[in-house]
Amino acid sequence: MSLKQQVEGLEKEALELIEKASDLESLNSIRVEFLGKKGKLKSILKTLGKLSPEERREIGQLANRVKEELEERLREKEKLLREKALEEELKKKKIDITLPSAWIETGSSHPVISTLVEISEIFVSMGFSVAEGPEVEKELYNFDMLNIPPDHPARDMQDTFFINKKGYVLRTHTSPVQIRAMLTREPPVAVIAPGRVYRKDADPTHSPMFHQIEGLLIDENVTFRDLKGILKIFLESIFGKNVGIRFRPSYFPFTEPSAEVDISCSVCGGTGCRVCKGTGWLEILGCGMVDPNVFEAAGIDTEKYTGFAFGLGIERIAMLRYRINDIRLLFDNDMRFNHQFKGIR
Ligand code: PHE
Repeated sequence: MSLKQQVEGLEKEALELIEKASDLESLNSIRVEFLGKKGKLKSILKTLGKLSPEERREIGQLANRVKEELEERLREKEKLLREKALEEELKKKKIDITLPSAWIETGSSHPVISTLVEISEIFVSMGFSVAEGPEVEKELYNFDMLNIPPDHPARDMQDTFFINKKGYVLRTHTSPVQIRAMLTREPPVAVIAPGRVYRKDADPTHSPMFHQIEGLLIDENVTFRDLKGILKIFLESIFGKNVGIRFRPSYFPFTEPSAEVDISCSVCGGTGCRVCKGTGWLEILGCGMVDPNVFEAAGIDTEKYTGFAFGLGIERIAMLRYRINDIRLLFDNDMRFNHQFKGIR
């Protein structure tokens, strides 16, 4: 067989194989077999040296043409096979839109926030409006104007977070918002002030950051009876009509007279248990009639106006309502805990 016939035979054979190739792998072995460094075409060309110059040129040209042709065909076939492969892949991965979707985690209100909102709504429904103040507060508002003198133990380093700005503290209660309300509003004033407060304290019932709601009502002829009525309505709507309520004389520098309010223990119902330390009562808030010293500091006419104020801890109420025995659970943000309050509001 002449060299020319060999090359032409090789071309025919290769074209047939390319035509038949059904995947990229076999296409690749055809490429190696015919066009590779040790391929069939190369080995034929190695024998060119024995030919006459004319034959050499003729066979050389033929071999080049065959090489180009085969390369071209291989490219075309490869493109075809890739397209086919993609098509099959897509067919396999067809999306079944009737399948149930993946579970999407939905968020929910934190129990402290839902309690805060719920308490706020009760007071708003009685005509109070919501006031706010900063968490980094003037010592003047947090202490002095609330009739808490500089040597008062409440200012002690052990309670208060002082910051590196003289005259400012992290507010230790929401009561400075009382001062802000008095300085910016004309009586009658009826505000609540929910927000974060800070005290250096940490154990199962105390957290260095917690939430309070302050209440303040100023008008002519406001009496302790009004205070009792408002708080009774509030406590009954949070803890139920049957809750026992008790006012205990107490002391706060900014109210006179002052009281602390207890409710019957929501865990044991008043018979005595660990939560109420056997007393049957739980302390729930502080309150009193605004001390005239506070009115005077804020420029409110003590001849014309009287008022009451109260303050309560939101975590405490959330813990009682949801029977949470450690305040830290509220701030760990363990999702296993948080998820249990889904749908509460
Ligand atoms: N500010 C007081 C506290 O944090 C609570 C309180 C507010 C008491 C208003 C009386 C009147 O303990």
